[in-house]
Amino acid sequence: MTIGLEGGPRADPATATAVIDVAAERSRTAGTAGRHYFNAAGAGLVSDQVLEAVVTHLRREQRMGGYEAANQVADEIAAVYAAAGELLRADADEIALFDSATSGLRAVFDALRLGPGDTVIAPRSSYVSQALRLLAMQRHDGVRLVVVPNGADGSMDLEALDRALAGAKGRVVVSAVHVPTSSGLVEPIAAIAAVARAYGAWTVVDATQSVGQIDVDVRAVDCDALVTTGRKFLRGPRGTGLAYLRRGALDGIGSWAPDVRGAVWTSEDEWTMDVTARQLESWESSVAARLGLGVALREAVDRGPAATEAHLVGLGARLRDGLAAIDGVTVADPAASPSAIVTFTVDGVASKDFSAGLRHRRIDSISVPASHAQWDLGARGLQSVVRVSPHVYNDDDDVRALLDGVTRLATGARA
Ligand SMILES: Cc1ncc(COP(=O)(O)O)c(C=O)c1O
Repeated sequence: MTIGLEGGPRADPATATAVIDVAAERSRTAGTAGRHYFNAAGAGLVSDQVLEAVVTHLRREQRMGGYEAANQVADEIAAVYAAAGELLRADADEIALFDSATSGLRAVFDALRLGPGDTVIAPRSSYVSQALRLLAMQRHDGVRLVVVPNGADGSMDLEALDRALAGAKGRVVVSAVHVPTSSGLVEPIAAIAAVARAYGAWTVVDATQSVGQIDVDVRAVDCDALVTTGRKFLRGPRGTGLAYLRRGALDGIGSWAPDVRGAVWTSEDEWTMDVTARQLESWESSVAARLGLGVALREAVDRGPAATEAHLVGLGARLRDGLAAIDGVTVADPAASPSAIVTFTVDGVASKDFSAGLRHRRIDSISVPASHAQWDLGARGLQSVVRVSPHVYNDDDDVRALLDGVTRLATGARA
């Protein structure tokens, strides 16, 4: 049992009793009609209410001007930070809004100002854009990069992490991942952060594929920063992202690139920084998209993070079992994969072609190439995998259609 922000109890995923009302979720999600949508890990389907919030604000901007419209919804914008804080068990002033997870991660790592002699430690599950950023820091900035091997279950080997931290020089940051793009793996982020903390290292968590599907409690994880995107399991609009930044984490240094949003230019050559997480933000943003994100965050809180996690973990397991039973299909997820991201390969067919075949049957999946996860798929010798990722709007009919579609296409490929 974890404790909510208000001190009230939240259900443990293992014992969550709240039930997800799939029919109600479908009735308020227009995108569920006529398709079997299994690409929440790409971009989850937004609810009608999220869409409405975006469109309403765009109309408001058209009628009265962008700045005037923003002033009118100042309270609603403040509520976006509050809802994000409530979902993650952070305070509203520890939340910064971005236009993607990548821009959030960039702002955090920029602020850390790592240079020659410093060390970043990363898991094999790192996402392409973050891995490339770290490789570029190693190549251009003299930062030492250590990629930690996996244990037998496919998650980060904590003893190897301990050894990497023990041997690390300079300032040390662990660039952790909760759930990767390339499999259903769930990394033990609280344990990773605890090992890092024992060595005085920072932990920055990429929770892009977990927030919205897994109940993430930043106080329980005890990380320094945690970043996610809006459009995936949070079911927000595209072009949104957010970060939790531990209060006081950047005291004395502030954002690497002060912006009028988070800094005040006080005299000829002086400025002051906002002390909240907003010091990392930029002035310009889509207010409409942020209002839509706020609605999605509120929906996620109201649905119940623990109940959502229990439901989606069950759905992931069901898909994994069903797919594993199909001739010619090999589930590609490592052992430590309880999440709602399910990956597989099919004998004799490239993942891209298989995914296209499913699309013809109105089933949306995606092919993840090794170029999105070289330290994972590349290292496992997989050129690509088919990825399916359900959400609370997927019903039994969707699951049947997916398993039937995969069976028929896999049988056809073997004929
Ligand atoms: C694990 C992970 N991290 C980061 C990202 C990047 O997110 P964004 O596209 O919002 O920058 C993705 C996108 O797929 C991802 O899967």
